[in-house]
Amino acid sequence: MPHRLLKTTPTSNPAARISSISRHLLGSAQSPASPSFPSNISLPSIQNRSFSSSPSANMSSQPEHPTLLIPGPIEFDDAVLQSMSHYSESHVGPGFVATFGDALSMLRKLFQTTSPSSQPFVISGSGTLGWDLVAANLVEPGENVLVLSSGYFSDGFADCLKVYGANVDLLKAPVGTRPQLPEIEEALKSKKYKMVTVTHVDTSTGVLSELQKLSETVKSVSPDTLLIVDGVCSVASEEIDFDAWKLDGVVTASQKAIGCPAGLSISMFSGKAMDAFKARKSPPASYFASMKNWTPSMA
Ligand SMILES: Cc1ncc(COP(=O)(O)O)c(C=O)c1O
Repeated sequence: MPHRLLKTTPTSNPAARISSISRHLLGSAQSPASPSFPSNISLPSIQNRSFSSSPSANMSSQPEHPTLLIPGPIEFDDAVLQSMSHYSESHVGPGFVATFGDALSMLRKLFQTTSPSSQPFVISGSGTLGWDLVAANLVEPGENVLVLSSGYFSDGFADCLKVYGANVDLLKAPVGTRPQLPEIEEALKSKKYKMVTVTHVDTSTGVLSELQKLSETVKSVSPDTLLIVDGVCSVASEEIDFDAWKLDGVVTASQKAIGCPAGLSISMFSGKAMDAFKARKSPPASYFASMKNWTPSMA
């Protein structure tokens, strides 16, 4: 059966619509900019990281381009672009080690954790790598995981956990809603779960999960169960009080509210989650995503 073709008019074509919004925001009526990154971008010379303080009507020094109006990747701040204009450095040299150390300290602030046992990870990869990090290190084959599903990305997390041998129960809510506390409580009472996963904001539905009350429920019904949050679409835009809410893990990525280029898996795990990792009977089920291999670099 032939596919139904969608009629593309200037208003129904997404690219045309985004370009026209972009032109509107730029206040000009010129034709849409090329989708490829312009070669005439004017960045300060290498190592010059100071920012001009001269008054300017422009909010940004970036060349005109179609404005990104999606959850991520998002528009870069000038400071982000300028900090990428840097000579290559050794990943074990003092300059990079200091920068990386600063990034890890700032992450603790972002997640609002002061607990010395909280463990951050910043690893090359996309948000999906956070799922693998959780599935390969915190669950062993045959262990039960309760996945609270509020959309496409929750289901993806469930699939990832299954790949590593977890026994996954998916608690699905009607589209546009989230699983409710009484049914979560009932599920937690029905069997022993090693972990509960929740998508803080499921990008596919926009549904926001309520982490504080969820954590209170999990901790009161099943105190040993780890509560892991997919925060790819929420970290740096929605509040996350890692210590106060007793979260055991939050995985995110660089390209959404954090506002950096795609390519980093960023996460924070509690001392309890790290203890669960250390107590594994079997080795981590991945080499690249092994917490054992990465932890020494994340001090
Ligand atoms: C909620 C959520 N989780 C996970 C992912 C996967 O992240 P990535 O595409 O960076 O692998 C996304 C991506 O949009 C997401 O929105």
